[in-house]
Order: sequence, then C-alpha cells, then structure tokens
Amino acid sequence: MKNFAAIVLAAGKGTRMKSRLPKVLHPVAGRPMIHYPLVVLKALKADRVVVVVGHKADEVEAAVTQGTFDYGAVDFVVQDPQLGTGHAVMCAAGRLRDYEGDVLILSADVPLITEATVKALFRVHRRRRGARPALTLTTVMLDDPGGYGRIVRDSGAAVERVVEHRDLAPHQRGIREVNAGVYLAESRFLFDNLEGLGTDNAQGEYYLPDLVALARDRGRAVAALTLSDPTEVMGVNNRAELAAAAAIMRRRINTRLMLSGVTIVDPAATYIDDGVKVGADTVIYPNVHLAGRTVIGGDCVIEEGSRIEGCRVASGVRVRSHSVLEGSTIGEGAVIGPFARLRPESRIGKGARVGNFVEIKKTALGKGSKANHLAYLGDASIGEGVNIGAGVITCNYDGEKKHRTVIEDGAFIGSDSQFVAPVKVGRGSYIGSGSTITKDVPAEVLALSRAEQKVVEGWLERRKAGQKTTKKKGG
Ligand code: UD1
Ligand code: CA
Repeated sequence: MKNFAAIVLAAGKGTRMKSRLPKVLHPVAGRPMIHYPLVVLKALKADRVVVVVGHKADEVEAAVTQGTFDYGAVDFVVQDPQLGTGHAVMCAAGRLRDYEGDVLILSADVPLITEATVKALFRVHRRRRGARPALTLTTVMLDDPGGYGRIVRDSGAAVERVVEHRDLAPHQRGIREVNAGVYLAESRFLFDNLEGLGTDNAQGEYYLPDLVALARDRGRAVAALTLSDPTEVMGVNNRAELAAAAAIMRRRINTRLMLSGVTIVDPAATYIDDGVKVGADTVIYPNVHLAGRTVIGGDCVIEEGSRIEGCRVASGVRVRSHSVLEGSTIGEGAVIGPFARLRPESRIGKGARVGNFVEIKKTALGKGSKANHLAYLGDASIGEGVNIGAGVITCNYDGEKKHRTVIEDGAFIGSDSQFVAPVKVGRGSYIGSGSTITKDVPAEVLALSRAEQKVVEGWLERRKAGQKTTKKKGG
C-alpha cells in the first residue's frame, strides 16, 4: 500500500486484564498481541510506523525491538500519563506532523485484524467517487455490543459520531453497530484537529472517535467500512477475550497449514505459534505444541502430547508421544521418543534414534547413532553409527565447570556406563557394561572398569542357619 504512515496504540494499562504484564504483551498463539498489527504493517509496507507506549513503556518497547521478529523500522513515543486514545495520537503527532498522506491507526489490542481488511479500508477511504473523507472508520454489527463505542448514523445513513459505551443515552442502547478501533485518516485533517478533542465524557479522556463528530462539524465526510466478520476486530480487554482471540488465531494458523497439505488430526487441540512452518504430508496428532521459531519438514509425524520449541526438524522425522524438544536440530528420518527430552543446542543426525527417557543437552548425536533407553548425554560429541546402551550417563559437571565427552564413530557403549568428562572414546571401541570411564580410550579396543564378580559358595546355608538361631532367641 502506498503513501501511508501508521500509529499503533499500545500505551494503555489494560486494567481489565488484572495483570502485571502490560496488556499488549499478553501472548496470542505464542506471540505478544502487539506482534500482529506490526506484522500487518510490515506486509503493507507502511512508510513509517509509530508505536505509542506508556504503561511499562520499556517492557513493550523491548518486546518489539528485542523479540525474535523483525518488524522493520519502528519509532516509539511515550504517552505519560495516558489520557485516552485521542491523547495517544496527539503524542504521536510530533513524529508525523510533516507526513503527507494517510495515517492508519491500529490498536495493539485488536490482534485479529488482517491485511485484507486493512486493504479494504484503504479502498473505501480512497474511493474516487464522492467527497474525499477526512476519516474512514471500521465498524461491525454485534449481537452483544457491550463495551464498544456505538456508531450513530444520520438520516442519510452516514456516520455522524461514535458514542462510547459509558456515555450512551438510553435511546442509543439498542445500537448494534460498533466502532472497531481501526481508522484511516487524512494526515492534514488529523493533525489539524486533534487539538479540538475535549474530555467532556464519562471517563474524562480524550477520545479518538470524537474526531468523527469533529469532521462532520467541519463539513468533512466520514466514511465507514462495515465488516461482516466480527471476529476480526474483536478487542481484547480481559482474559476471557484473550482466550477467545487466541482460539480464533490458532484456528486460522491451523487452517492455513491444513490447506497447505499438513494433516492436523484435531485442530481444536493443536497449538501452533504464529510463524511456525510445517511441510506437506506431515501429520500432527492432538495436544502437540509447536512453539517459537520452529520449522518442520514434510512427511513427519508428530505424535500426541509433544512440545517442540525453536527447533529445526528435517523431513521424515517421527517425534513420538510426549517428547519435549527445545532449540535443537533433528536430521532427516530420525526417530525421537516416546518420552524423550532434547534440550537446547542438540543436533540429532540423519536416521538417528533417541528413545524413551533419554535426555540430551548440547550434544551432537551422529548419523544413524542410537540412544534408545534411559540415558543422559550432555556436552558430548557422538559420532556416526554409535550405539549407546541403556542407562549411559555423561558426568559432564564437576560442580564448577562443564566438560565434554567425545565418542567417535562406530563405538559401542555398554549399558549403565558413565563417562567422567573430559574423556574420549576412540573410533570403533567397545565399552563394557557398567564401566566408569575416567581416562581416554583409544580406537578399536575393549575398555571396561568393573570390580570382578565373586561367587561365594555356602553363603545361603550359612544365612539360613543364622536366621533359625535368631528366631529361637526371639521366641
Ligand atoms: C476503543 C474505542 C471504542 C472502540 C474500541 C474497539 C476509544 C475512546 N474507544 O475502546 O470506540 O469500540 O476501542 O476495540 O478510543 N490506549 C493508549 N493510550 C490511552 C488509552 C488507550 O495508547 O491513553 C491504547 C490501548 O493500549 C489500546 C487502545 O488504545 O491498545 C484502545 O484502548 P482501550 O482502552 O482498550 O479502548 P476501548 O475501551 O476498548
Ligand atoms: Ca480495547
């Protein structure tokens, strides 16, 4: 979209959230609410974006600038104290006063707004026929309009003004058309008239929607885009609305993925963050969470109850039930779980297997290697074709520092062995079960460190005899 700047309102405290966290940072499908308008603005290529922050301004600013997403150039202005939505735009005016073009105003607490709707708003605002509107607003009909500003239309059905819920006169209570809080204004009109807003209302605040009546007083036209889908412009003001908005967002994300070829067995019970990518023919079972900046290839199976956060998963991978994967890379065709845990910076090679109750941290497990049962592998480099037996543990921490274990290609590690790091096992060597390895093992040898087994003859008879005498004494 050409020739427009944008203001995002994000200064309010969000009192009705009853939260320490600023409202606009509450997550919807894994991203802070404010993420969504910023993504729309980036897609529409706004000339400039000004975010108005106020309540916990530093936290909100940090979430935008230091988060994992790049929203392009974003300017911040601080509104302190917060005297209403009209006042918030006055605070942003300083940055945009010289701007010639249209100014789009979005609220950070309206996360479901789409690029398509904003484009439609532009079409209405810039329509060639008729007087050019000073302001175009977005409206929607609601069965339950409680809390929203209501649209008052004149006898010719043109928008006359907006009356906030708390300022409604009894005869206006039946109005079902509401202000969605998404506006497009001519910059000149906007910045010349903001000063004209008053605070003569129930909340004693500067109301941005009062610009509608102001425009009409100046003899300017006000246009409106009336949406048919009320969910899009749903404002999030409390936690019940937060949950409702998140459910809608998840449905959107899941539908998009299903239409691109992903099977989601139960979309209502599948939690995928905005921005996560999944390849075609991957099957996702219920209660799976795909979080952070996760990318999953095609032809994978993600079984029920698994959580995958910030991972790159190649194609053909099977993540079996109830596995937790964080910050790791999984090679093609690997099988993880059930009940496996991959902690950050782990790299699982092609066709490798990580079985039940195996925890892996900052460890590379080479191509085709297997750790199938009950193991802890931390700070280790494990080569290709290595077999890690049940109960193997890397003792990577000496109470102060972490140390590395290196196991070269083709090694066979017997069950219940421990590696007191730093230590290395050479290529192709065998470690006998139950060994505690404290020194480097060269290539192609058998190493074992266990006490020799003893057989004690006659022990059982002696024990039984001993028990009889004790019983007699006792009885
Ligand atoms: C606002 C509209 C209402 C509309 C509704 C749609 C006003 C006066 N009312 O009501 O007509 O139906 O949105 O969702 O605008 N904010 C600031 N600074 C402030 C106050 C608010 O930046 O001083 C921000 C908030 O952080 C929020 C947005 O503006 O992102 C909207 O504020 P909110 O208090 O939620 O307005 P509503 O009562 O929902
Ligand atoms: Ca609101």
